[in-house]
Order: sequence, then structure tokens, then C-alpha cells
Amino acid sequence: MKMMNAAIKTQPLNIDLPSHCTFSTEDWLKLAKYWYPVARIEDIQDVPIKATLLDENLVIYKIKEEIIVARDVCPHRGVPLTLGSHDGEGVICPYHGLRFGEGGKCNRIPSSPQQTIPNKLNLYTYPVIEQYGLVWTCLTHDTQETVPNLPLWHEENVQQVICTPVDIEAFAGRQVEGFLDVAHFAWVHTGTFADPENQFVPDYSTQETAQGFNADYWSTVGDYPASDTFKKADDFKILRHFEFHLPFTATLTIHLRQGAKQVIMNAASPVSARKTRLFAPIVKNYDLDDKVQDVIDYNLKIFEEDRLMVETQKPERLPLDLKLEAHIPADRSSIMLRRCLKKAGFDQFFLI
Ligand code: FES
Ligand SMILES: [Fe+2]
Repeated sequence: MKMMNAAIKTQPLNIDLPSHCTFSTEDWLKLAKYWYPVARIEDIQDVPIKATLLDENLVIYKIKEEIIVARDVCPHRGVPLTLGSHDGEGVICPYHGLRFGEGGKCNRIPSSPQQTIPNKLNLYTYPVIEQYGLVWTCLTHDTQETVPNLPLWHEENVQQVICTPVDIEAFAGRQVEGFLDVAHFAWVHTGTFADPENQFVPDYSTQETAQGFNADYWSTVGDYPASDTFKKADDFKILRHFEFHLPFTATLTIHLRQGAKQVIMNAASPVSARKTRLFAPIVKNYDLDDKVQDVIDYNLKIFEEDRLMVETQKPERLPLDLKLEAHIPADRSSIMLRRCLKKAGFDQFFLI
């Protein structure tokens, strides 16, 4: 893990919500203290990259191996820097050519090259952590929160794969709810890993943790198409271990036979209250020679199977009051998700 650029505070830390913010002020301030992925490290090359997190537009660029995440607003006259270019010494604003380099600092004013550059012309940067092949950021500068844990990632002899980000027209809370849901496999995932005849959900329990909750689910649903023969055995059973980390990340460890494990992280990054960019780093300790693109394609196919449900369900935001919906026994995880979010102080997620 690499912690970089302690944020440069060129503006006071007042409440300064993004314009056109789709969250309530209270929810935005609570959400802003968590870490979210905003890009794959491999995608940060020699041009500035655009991302949006909690309605805040961001520019991401690399300079001398340091990754900078900053507001996508030129401190001079407010033009987005993602419209500009990168000359190797920094990102150049397309309007008057000011350039921003290491630490987000302005290092060139083309129209007055001799002038001392005031701090006011530095970018408003955010803290950055590089972890699991992803660039994580946090929109507050004094957070106590940590990046969610991805089991197995740091072990020897594993294959690490970072899926292409998936853009979803739905709230992140709804998306992560779908990832934790175990009753939809036989209905939604029949094109990938599930059997339409295997609809029964065995009993399972959840345990609260400091960051959210864990759930252990002994499943009779297979893991991936290659295991067809294995899953037909009478005693077929695999452990699906879920770890939910507030507010919108979960990992699923699938325990296969003889110590073989696969872990999928579902990090739902809230672009706005109605849009999500899903990042999914995956690690496994078997079939290490699988083609990376095949692993990505297979997992993207699973996420695509979920798309129609999560993009059309109502209400669009997640009701935290359990009385507002009907529940079935298989919903233990999604009930616990609501309890954890409520306990963390969120109470405005219900909106028709
Ligand atoms: S607006 Fe960016 S250099 Fe003037
Ligand atoms: Fe699903």
C-alpha cells in the first residue's frame, strides 16, 4: 500500500458541497469521510483522467510516479483540467496554459513566467492511497476510516485481476445490496454460474464487525463453469464468506475444494445518488495461468446479468427503515446492510 501526497489545503475546510449535489448535506458529509476507488492505477498514463465521486468532479494524473487526485477546476478561472493535456511536467489548463505538477502545485504561468507563483494557484487536492491496483481517495482530509480489506491479495502464488470499471445507473447502496443477495442466483445468474433448478437458500447468519458485518453462507450453487462436474456431486457445498465494509464495499471469499479460494471485491463507488462506478479487483490461488482477459470477461458477464434488476428496482435509493419493505428469510444480509447504514447515521436514503 502506498500513501501519497498529504493533501494541500489551499482552501479552508468549510462545508463546500459540490454544485448540483444529489445527496442531502448530512449524508454527503458522512459519506465523504470514507475511502472510494476512483480509477485503476493502470489507466493513469500520460493524460489527465476524469472521475466523479459524490458529485465532485475530479482530475487524476501521474507525475514522477506520484498520483494526484484533485478537484477538476482550474484555480485561475475554473475551467476543467480534464479538458487539458499533460506535457510530462504536469497538467496544462486549456484556457491560459497554467500547469500543475507535483503535489498539485502550479509550476508555470506562461503569460508571466518570472512571477512568483502564489499558493492560491495550487490545485485543491485530496489524499490518495494506491491499493489493490486501484486509486482510492477520500473527500475529507481528516478521516479516521481505512480502505476495506481484500483477503488473499497480499499472499504468495496468487493471480490478481482488476476488472474494467462498470458504470451502473443506480445507487451504490442498491448495487452492493445485490452483491450481498444470495436468493437471486437461480433467477439472474443462469447464464454464468447458477442452476435455475437450485432455488433454495440454506439458512445462514450474520455477525456484526467494526466496519460492517460478515456472513457465512454454505451454498450448493456452483462457482464457475469449469466446476460443472464438481458441482454435480451429491455432497457439493462451498462456503461463501461475505465481508461488508461501510458504506458500499463488500468482499466475497469463495472457498472451493482443497484450499482453493477466490476473492471478489465489490467496491461500489458513488458517482452520485443515482450513478455508481463499480470497481472489482479479484484474487485467486488456483488456475494461476488463466488468461486475465477471460477472468475479467466472465466476471463482467455476471455484473451485466445484475444490471437490469438494480437499474430498475424501486425505490431507487435504499430504504433503511425495515418497515418500508417486505422481507424474506434469505434477506438476512440485506437487512443487516440496512442496520449497519442506519447505525452509521445514514437516514436519508429513502426516496421514491
Ligand atoms: S482558467 Fe485555467 S489557466 Fe486560466
Ligand atoms: Fe448478482
